[in-house]
Amino acid sequence: SACFAVLPAAGSGSRFGAQHAKQYALLDGQTVMAHTVQRLLSVPEITDIAVVLAAHDQLAERVIAGLPVCRVIGGAERMDSVLAGLLALTDAHDDDWVLVHDIARPLVRPDDIRRLLTACADDPVGGLLAHAVRDTIKRTQPVAQGQVADSRCVAQTIPRDELMHALTPQLFRYGLLRDALLAARADGVVVTDEAAAMERLGHSPRLVTGARDNLKITYADDLALAEFYLAQQRA
Ligand code: C5P
Repeated sequence: SACFAVLPAAGSGSRFGAQHAKQYALLDGQTVMAHTVQRLLSVPEITDIAVVLAAHDQLAERVIAGLPVCRVIGGAERMDSVLAGLLALTDAHDDDWVLVHDIARPLVRPDDIRRLLTACADDPVGGLLAHAVRDTIKRTQPVAQGQVADSRCVAQTIPRDELMHALTPQLFRYGLLRDALLAARADGVVVTDEAAAMERLGHSPRLVTGARDNLKITYADDLALAEFYLAQQRA
């Protein structure tokens, strides 16, 4: 089956706190968006790439001008943007694969993408890159009394060896992912990744361990870390 890719890039990036969205920040002199698109273009298994943009995004036009990708207008939530990207891939069949990758993860290793493709090759559903958590993670609940700003209390400690960070790419059968996102939307549920939409329907996506340097640029200080990882990858 063929492999398509959808790159959601229609977020406002409000947590990043700069004039332009984070995908236009510069990493070694090139925009985050350019890095991400080039990494996916370097994987020969991927036949078509849809980049999902906010309406009137003129910077994007400049970044992807001349690159063999198609442009799609996104929606209010990430899941709306991904769905718009999927629906624009009119050559895709239900059994084909689609990789969904955050535009804000410019350091994804092409080798990790290939390992994900290989690990899922015979899978009816698909999976995602992930890595083990290092910290102990607490489920929290509101503090009953004596409110201090930013203070909650512990509801539960989740066994650490069961926890992983969900990264992208996330790889699913095209038809299953489209239907799962349509179902989430019809039910009024906002999912924050594609796997969550699949899980709602009872699927259990595979987790394939990926490199930790595949970080998502969210806050401005993530850029400095990304510069460091990029230099390390090139060393
Ligand atoms: O907000 P967050 O960092 O989780 O966004 C992840 C990715 O989803 C980013 O690449 C962002 O541009 C994209 N996104 C989108 N459409 C939205 C919201 C987020 O394409 N409405």
